[in-house]
Amino acid sequence: MISVTVNGTTHQIDVDPDTPILWVVRENLQMTGTKFGCGIAQCGACTIHLDGYPIRSCSTPISAADGGTITTIEGLAAPDGSLSKVQQAWIDEQVPQCGYCQSGQIMSATALLRDNPNPTDEDIDDAMSGNVCRCGTYPQIRRAIKTAASS
Ligand code: FES
Ligand code: FES
Repeated sequence: MISVTVNGTTHQIDVDPDTPILWVVRENLQMTGTKFGCGIAQCGACTIHLDGYPIRSCSTPISAADGGTITTIEGLAAPDGSLSKVQQAWIDEQVPQCGYCQSGQIMSATALLRDNPNPTDEDIDDAMSGNVCRCGTYPQIRRAIKTAASS
């Protein structure tokens, strides 16, 4: 049995410890905001936070989260539904195109801004380099991160 706190709620989950966190979140907990892209830790679509750090949930077993704390895209908004400043900036700057990569982008951007509230373009490129967007929304992502940083 795995015990893990996801977006503030603790769950006891009867699952093979080798199961990727992504599948526990999507299948066991029915939180489908986190996406499956490559499955081999190369695209960032599955990015969530484990104990505050961005990780690739497609390639991290749930055993690594036993006793830990996960935040997914569903956990970024406040309990009253108000969006995080990163989510709001994504809307204000109209970042998403197809949207598939964007929950992972937002999770990486949120971690970046927590550690570095005023990132340079280089900081942004470094922090976001593991998140691929096939629609090429990189300029909008950079703009939205700066908007969030100044809000
Ligand atoms: S789906 Fe996890 S990094 Fe691509
Ligand atoms: S918005 Fe389509 S892959 Fe990024």
